[in-house]
Amino acid sequence: MCFSTVFDIVKNKADQLGHTEKEMYASLKNEKVNKKDILAYKESGVIPTDERVLNGILNYLDMSKTELELTLGRVPEGFEDVFLKNTKEIAKLLEKRKEAKKEEQNTVPAIAPYYSSDLGKLYKGDCLELFKQVPNESVDTVFADPPFNLDKEYDEGVNDKNTFSGYLNWYYKWINECIRVLKPGGSLFIYNIPKWNTYLSEYLNRRMNFRNWITVDMKFGLPIQKRLYPANYSLLYYVKGDKPKTFNVQRVPLQTCPHCGREIKDYGGYKSKMNPNGVTLSDVWSDIYPVRHNSSKNRKFNELSVKLLDRVISMSTNEGEVVLDPFGGSGTTFAVSELLGRKWIGFELGNCEIIKDRLENKGRDKKLFKKVYEEKNKLFPDKVKELRKKNGLWTDDDFRSDNEKVLNGNTKENKHDQISLNLK
Ligand SMILES: C[S@@+](CC[C@H](N)C(=O)[O-])C[C@H]1O[C@@H](n2cnc3c(N)ncnc32)[C@H](O)[C@@H]1O
Repeated sequence: MCFSTVFDIVKNKADQLGHTEKEMYASLKNEKVNKKDILAYKESGVIPTDERVLNGILNYLDMSKTELELTLGRVPEGFEDVFLKNTKEIAKLLEKRKEAKKEEQNTVPAIAPYYSSDLGKLYKGDCLELFKQVPNESVDTVFADPPFNLDKEYDEGVNDKNTFSGYLNWYYKWINECIRVLKPGGSLFIYNIPKWNTYLSEYLNRRMNFRNWITVDMKFGLPIQKRLYPANYSLLYYVKGDKPKTFNVQRVPLQTCPHCGREIKDYGGYKSKMNPNGVTLSDVWSDIYPVRHNSSKNRKFNELSVKLLDRVISMSTNEGEVVLDPFGGSGTTFAVSELLGRKWIGFELGNCEIIKDRLENKGRDKKLFKKVYEEKNKLFPDKVKELRKKNGLWTDDDFRSDNEKVLNGNTKENKHDQISLNLK
């Protein structure tokens, strides 16, 4: 276990000493550190620069500054060369533990799924336990939308309030499992608020290859005093190894005015050079909306839209490949996998009946999916095309016939666009 903040290290020490929070603050006060001083390090990984505060904390912890840095999971400042010279010894020490862990893994009993379909299996329980069932390098894409540690309401037994370090340590554990189960070239997507994804990104950069930080433009919560109004989620996209084994280009319509159909942004005037199948998807997604309406909602709390999952799964997998989601929620990932003909593995600690129901009654998802495909891989959705024609504006029909690639409908890219949707 390693800690992410000095506050969490102090809190852990207090727990070891059997101190209540009040006693902890009283002991720190004896060391000339007041409550405000220590609270400043609750959500930040830095080491105090004020000597009074640092020395007081070190006295309470009975640690040197070097030990404190090691406990924060870093090579202590000024010791980088010693560290590099002794990597053999350090590696030996760590690998001993790895062997012990491997043995633990070999003795995992098989767990029965809560629900199975022809394409997938849903398991009820804690993802860290359930991951043990999944063989190394057997999954093509992992999509994870975990609780954000915002103290939100979930099913009984699901905790969304952890300490800063506690949350990150838990995160690192299941990320390691995601990396283990991914095939070489497999993709990992992690959806969270930007604050947490900055830490995860730092962790992942040392283990996988960065592809994109996708900004999902969506307001959440209320404005916060003296801060910018939070209006985006972050979707991290990493691959295991040098390059993705599967990457299918996704295309979106040109943005147009809903009233007159004119382009909102300048396309540069090269209309005949535009791909009639749409504009290449960028890393800013402004067309994903929260699932708020009761008619499209499967449960009370957080649920992602099928559009987002369709994008992730279509982009990173082909038909028959395997998608894993450790935080099933309402089952959006599994519903979309079914409709796209992907195999899937799902975990959920809370209510699994909602997911089972959703997968057994696919009507609502099929409707939503049809809507997504009315706009996907088209330069102008049909209604927009009609409006533009009515207003004397150009459409892709004007140059489509010149474009042999599209007439044949046979480019590699196009083949992926024509997936056989299981919508009957
Ligand atoms: C943000 S929601 C996921 C929503 C989902 N993406 C959807 O579209 O419906 C996170 C889910 O993770 C589940 N969860 C929390 N901790 C878990 C754990 N340790 N193992 C498995 N599931 C967990 C929660 O019960 C919750 O349903």
